[in-house]
This record gives sequence, C-alpha cells and structure tokens, in this order.
Amino acid sequence: MIATVAIVFAKFAPATANTPLEVDTVAHRGAAAMAPENTPAGLEFARHTHARYIEVDVQLSADGVPVIVHDVTLTRTSNAVEVFPDRESYAVTEFTWDELQQLDAGSWYHEDFAGERIPRLEDVIDYARSGAGINIELKDPALSPGVEQVVADVLAADDRWHALNQRGGLVVSSFDIDSLATFHGLAPHVPVGGIGGVPDDATLADHATWMASWTTNYRLMDDAAVDRVQVTGMEFVVYTVNSPEHMLAMVDLGVDGIVTDAPQVLERLKFGFDPLPDANGVVVSEVVADVPGVDIEPETGEHVVLHNTTDQPVDVDGWFLLDAVANRLDVGPGYVIPPDGTLGVYTGPGTNTSDRYYNDFGRNVLNNNGDSIAVFTPDRELIDLFAYY
Ligand code: G3P
Ligand code: MG
Repeated sequence: MIATVAIVFAKFAPATANTPLEVDTVAHRGAAAMAPENTPAGLEFARHTHARYIEVDVQLSADGVPVIVHDVTLTRTSNAVEVFPDRESYAVTEFTWDELQQLDAGSWYHEDFAGERIPRLEDVIDYARSGAGINIELKDPALSPGVEQVVADVLAADDRWHALNQRGGLVVSSFDIDSLATFHGLAPHVPVGGIGGVPDDATLADHATWMASWTTNYRLMDDAAVDRVQVTGMEFVVYTVNSPEHMLAMVDLGVDGIVTDAPQVLERLKFGFDPLPDANGVVVSEVVADVPGVDIEPETGEHVVLHNTTDQPVDVDGWFLLDAVANRLDVGPGYVIPPDGTLGVYTGPGTNTSDRYYNDFGRNVLNNNGDSIAVFTPDRELIDLFAYY
C-alpha cells in the first residue's frame, strides 16, 4: 500500500547550533541538485557541507574499473552519444575506462561544469573528511558481475578506507540484497545497508543480523515503517528528500538518516539556520505534473508555477529549474514577475506570454508520482526547493 507522506510542522523544539536536529545527512550522488551527480565537483561540494555521508553509485567499466555513475546508460549524464556516435549501446558496462575518461560528465547539468570527469571508486576516498564518510552503492550489480570483489579489493588497497571504516564513516549499500550479502561475505568488517521497500518483520529481523541500516523511498512508506525497522536495531534512512518541509517531516517521524540532493539545506536546517539563505521571495507555488491528455500537450501541458510573493517586481531572466534528476527547464530572456504575480514555466510547446514561458523540451520531465524542483538564478544561487507528493 502506498501512503503519501503528510507534511507536518516539526513538533520538536526548534534546532539551534547548540541543539542540532539528530539526523544524518547523506549527500546523494555527491550533491545532485547543486552540481552534476557523481562527479568530482559534486563530491567536493558535498565534502564542504559536512554531510555525514557522501553517497555514490558504483558500476564496472568494460575492463573492470569501478566507476561512479548512477544510470545504467551514459546518455543522461554525459556527452557519450556525441563523442561515440556510432555505438549501438551506451551501457556504462560496455565502455572501457579509457573511453569513459573521454566523456564530459558536467555540461549536461550546466555549462559551468564543462569538463567534469567520471571518477573511479579509488578517487572517492579523497573526499572523505573527519566526521564525514562515504556510502558506496552497488548499482545494478547484476550488470557488473564481480563488482563485490572489486569494491572489497579497492577498500583493502588504501589504508584511508580502513581508517574511515574505523571511525564509522563507511557503508556499502544496494537494492540487490544478494549482491550485498556477497560483499558482506568478502568484507564482513564493512557495515552494509539494504535499500528498497520495507519488508515484513521477519525479513527485517533476518536482515538485522547482518545489516546496519535499511533505506527506503520516503514517498512509498507508511509511518509505522520507522519503528518496524528501528526495533530491529537497524538504522532507518529515507531517500530522496529535497524540500525543507519534507526534511522536517522526516525528522519528525524519527528517521536516522536523510538522503538528499541538497545536503547543505539539511545541514543548515539541522543547526537552526535559514535553509535557503539566497531566497528572495520568489517561490514555487504549484507544480502541475499530471495534466489531462499528454503531459506536454501544447499550451496546457505540465508546468511549474513561480510566485513572486514580494511587493517588488523580480527579474527572472535566465533563471532555471531542475527536477530531481536535474532535467533543466529555463526561464526565457526578458521575464519579470510583477509583485504578487506568477509565471508558469512549461515543459512542452506553446506561445509565450508575459506569464507563461514554454521550453518545448521534447519530452515530459515532471514525474507524476512525485518530484522536486530546485529554482536557480543564472549565477546558480538556490532560490527555492519544492517537493510534491
Ligand atoms: O541511497 C539511496 C539512493 O541512492 C537510492 O536511489 O536510484 O538514487 O541510487 P538511487
Ligand atoms: Mg544511489
């Protein structure tokens, strides 16, 4: 049964720098809202947020190098099609390490990140810091046979991984429980965490004999899940929580960890600071993701509504919006939202007006089952974070 999460105001006392909220920040794919996912720039951003863990996804290249990429294919997060136009497949596991090194893994997100490279797992230890660790997700391990041994070997080959583990900063996670068990057999001293829907109590109890944590999609759980997991002794972690309101709702439920694309926002909330210090009164007031007909119906398709809540006009020329997988919708040139006015930013085609801008993106973007929207100025200042469902 799928339950939507009720967004509630936090019942606990407000956080302050002296009494921070007790929840671990897990910086998702580096910091996927703030920099291209799973790249050095994202890992560096995450490192500076003091997140408890930086999460990365590992797969094997065709020649067996553990590489940090989330999707099964390279098409969304690199220029692989441009660099290798004649390939029949763009599966990560069909490219050699040498080929992967030729890809730009940053421009797809924003031109400021042109030239970002796909890292190897070995490189990720450089981003650990005292008090902050690394969460290595074995991503689709069935497509990367032997990845468990490769990861175990990488962790054994550099003393810094050992030191990180000694101070409680290392976890290996996966949706694939069999793969996780294989890894656990090879490296029993490294804590492991399962990911997926919350299983029945007997399965949870069994998992708790060898897992340190269970991670689930916060939109697909019911409130009882927190206690059911925690009573086994495992920590309970939720993903991917991207608005301050949803973060506070999860803290209120008592989760141990929150996976987020904007780790700096959660860290600021935890210590009682304004989570969005660059906010200027323009907010996302509504996301219309599921429209009658196709989602990119001309004129009336899916869109995000920006509301200027101030009594002054706000110039939004060149602003852009990112959804949870960093699909980018732009605001066209010359747009100004009047006081208390709105601007609809549409995915599909239509005739632009003073309060509607059409991206004609070519496909729908906004997930009908829940998504998040980050709003940025042209200088990449984060103005608002909104999540629905
Ligand atoms: O850690 C949980 C999260 O990373 C799982 O989802 O698809 O982003 O790897 P995904
Ligand atoms: Mg992951």
